[in-house]
Amino acid sequence: MKNKQVQIFDTTLRDGEQVPGCRLDPEEKLELALELEALGVDIIEAGFPVSSPGDFQAVQLIAREVRRPVICALSRAVEADIEAAGMAIRQARRGRIHTGIGTSDFHIRHKLKDTREGVLARAVAAVKFARRFTDDVEFYAEDAGRTDNEYLAEIIHAVIRAGATVVNIPDTTGYCLPEQYGEKIKFLSDRVSNIDRAIISTHCHNDLGLATANSIAGVCNGAGQVECTINGIGERAGNASLEEVVMILKQHSHMPFHTNIRTNMLNRVSRLVSGKMRMPVQANKAIVGANAFAHSSGIHQDGVIKHKETYEIISPADVGADDSSIILTARSGRSALRYRAEKLGFSVSDDELEKGYARFIELADAKQVVDDDDIMKLFVTHAAR
Ligand code: KIV
Ligand code: ZN
Repeated sequence: MKNKQVQIFDTTLRDGEQVPGCRLDPEEKLELALELEALGVDIIEAGFPVSSPGDFQAVQLIAREVRRPVICALSRAVEADIEAAGMAIRQARRGRIHTGIGTSDFHIRHKLKDTREGVLARAVAAVKFARRFTDDVEFYAEDAGRTDNEYLAEIIHAVIRAGATVVNIPDTTGYCLPEQYGEKIKFLSDRVSNIDRAIISTHCHNDLGLATANSIAGVCNGAGQVECTINGIGERAGNASLEEVVMILKQHSHMPFHTNIRTNMLNRVSRLVSGKMRMPVQANKAIVGANAFAHSSGIHQDGVIKHKETYEIISPADVGADDSSIILTARSGRSALRYRAEKLGFSVSDDELEKGYARFIELADAKQVVDDDDIMKLFVTHAAR
């Protein structure tokens, strides 16, 4: 039974928008935020208000206009940042401040030039200060993926006591393996005595291609919220991809999790984000890539023509994609050629198919893809002889 709801925290407009070339103005951000609301995300991280007046305005505008999801603003563990975040979300129906600090020894020593005790005190102070603006405060332990688990448990306990309602465990550098990340979440669930007063969140980066797998490992070990982006865009190699996380939870019926996402909007929102943020989607991207439902080898085409589920585990309509397609290339077989010819209205006998196929293979060796015009010529010419 899929009775546990996983909250989807979309950070396309913050972590995604940090990517060079992806910057949006407030109106563009609002347009995408309304789409994310329609898609069904639970929380929209709308931006980092202290970073620029434009981003402050964008968060303020989204907080005013987008009413169903929680609207979240990012800050460092610095009073000026937290205050800007608090002001920007003031008109939200439900507003959240996301504040935090680096907790790995790399961050503490080299970036913050502080001590573990000093960072813990700064984390607690930041959460207490954020609570002056809203009851919904999320704390992030930056580089939690490489943070010592005992220290991480100590800091998470302290920020929950200070008023954090969500605790984010980012694998900021995308370093963890799924089992390590899952164990980290389990360790916190088991060891932090006040963990029942907060939701654990995942925030996984994709430097080793494991962001989605790590997020799922987090959910399986006690996380109740996943931070992710449309098309997996984000800092460096990106974040966990929303569409992948959501479809994994949906397709694996033995998992007890569900989300509020209207999956039949995934392809539409993917295209909108890609267009507005000038970030093309790779053709082989899971769920939303141009080839996600395209079959091109003869063996696969023969199977799909006989029964779709031989090579398709998701129905294209479930994710708002065009129907699956049979692409004719030099690796295609006779059954694919007959299928496409019949779709164009030809009724092809075995003999016609054999002759057409020989001509087709010659053409396919010379071209990347044989299209409808080519098929028409193949069979019309052939029939006229
Ligand atoms: O990757 C990260 O650690 C972040 C935090 C600011 C949440 O994006
Ligand atoms: Zn991040």
